[in-house]
Amino acid sequence: MKNVKNYLSENKDRFLNELIELLKIPSVSADPAFSQDVLDTAEMVKSRLEDAGCDIVEIHETAGYPIVYGEKIINTNLPTVLVYGHYDVQPADPIDLWHSPPFEPVIKKTEKHPEGAIFARGACDDKGQMYMHVKALELMVKTDQLPCNVKFMIEGEEEVGSNNLSIYVGENKEKLANDVILISDTGMIANDVPSITTGLRGLSYVEVEVTGPNRDLHSGLYGGAVANPINILTKMIASLHDENNHITIPGFYDKVEELSAEERAEMAKAPFSIEKYQEALDIESVYGEKGYSTNERNSIRPTLDVNGIWGGYTGEGAKTVIASKAYAKISMRLVPNQDWREITDLFKTHFEAIAPKGVKVVVKPHHGGQGYVTPIDTIAYQAASKAYETTFGKKPIPQRSGGSIPIVSLFEQELKSKTILMGFGLDSDAIHSPNEHFGVWNYFKGIETIPYFYEHFTEMTKK
Ligand code: BES
Ligand code: MN
Ligand code: MN
Repeated sequence: MKNVKNYLSENKDRFLNELIELLKIPSVSADPAFSQDVLDTAEMVKSRLEDAGCDIVEIHETAGYPIVYGEKIINTNLPTVLVYGHYDVQPADPIDLWHSPPFEPVIKKTEKHPEGAIFARGACDDKGQMYMHVKALELMVKTDQLPCNVKFMIEGEEEVGSNNLSIYVGENKEKLANDVILISDTGMIANDVPSITTGLRGLSYVEVEVTGPNRDLHSGLYGGAVANPINILTKMIASLHDENNHITIPGFYDKVEELSAEERAEMAKAPFSIEKYQEALDIESVYGEKGYSTNERNSIRPTLDVNGIWGGYTGEGAKTVIASKAYAKISMRLVPNQDWREITDLFKTHFEAIAPKGVKVVVKPHHGGQGYVTPIDTIAYQAASKAYETTFGKKPIPQRSGGSIPIVSLFEQELKSKTILMGFGLDSDAIHSPNEHFGVWNYFKGIETIPYFYEHFTEMTKK
């Protein structure tokens, strides 16, 4: 690859401004109030792919938001890279906690990003990271050095479970045929500690409803004599972890892949400061499953967390009431070999079984997906590793992430290809939180690194 740095510096301002324009559209897939904005974003992605040099770009309608497909096939004898990303974003709430409006991008310096970071919902997850691939394509096309074929598949429903994408993938296996799938929708350890994500956790997301009496009751007249669904729900939830913070659902750990002592020792080599971690979150101590380190707890171990809980009176002042119903949303992050449907069933059976007489329990599964592990002894991983070595001057560390991109395991199942997760965000970039941001340095480093992946992957595949 030649002239990568030159092309980047000549087009720096435009690359940044284009991303800012993309970030101004509030493409919140979860909230129907933004549906026109989500559709407008798909149109913008389409035209940007055309500008970058794709020969064909199509908007594929689905039962939900469209999928933008693009391709540039230069020679069918050469390998094909399929880029996946998403143009939808999480809701911006709670808006009050943003220091600048979520859809009016601004660049500000931070401790981790001394060269500035773009603050906006979707800056890191995933518009900024997805757009690095569009600009990397432009760079390769305009400097006449695209070494292989490329396909893009950018969806608008990742943040709400990718249901329509699974259908699309199943129906378009030939169109999507590829030699490797490339995704930037994860993170790395630090700007001076490059890493490649080699694992994603699976997910089972459920909602539970506990019903006590058939109506809200006076907490004096009935209190103590009937089951209070909020008391019961909190007790049931508390019982889902034991004193060692192990999950108590029978069978939950049966299929969990246990890592060897060597693998765990290898993991422990990644630089990590517990003091800095605690300080950044303003906590006196970390908390979690006994026998595992923080980095193990959030990557190779499964979890169960309440994401929301409500019921009864939560307005101003006090109201003496025993509510008829209580609710909670619960996520379980899963690790290799745990099947999300099986885990959802285990949860349901157990949760119904521990409910005392006097309440009725309903468990509603929301969505889920399998975890994923990328092998590192492949051409694709080695090509990615070489690309980072070229642009960071250091060999990247393979690291499993705690997050989930459920569609990745389906890609492997349907398209029979491996996924490489080249994430350039940092954990501190506040994805899904107020003040999400993406380092300007990271954005350009991504655009710089991606073309080298194409180059090495093509060279190594030919041999
Ligand atoms: N990009 C994230 C996942 C991610 C972030 C993985 C950082 C690894 C590191 C993705 O957009 C996401 O938010 N996924 C959801 C699941 C989805 C089904 C809503 C998640 O992990 O909660
Ligand atoms: Mn994402
Ligand atoms: Mn996300």
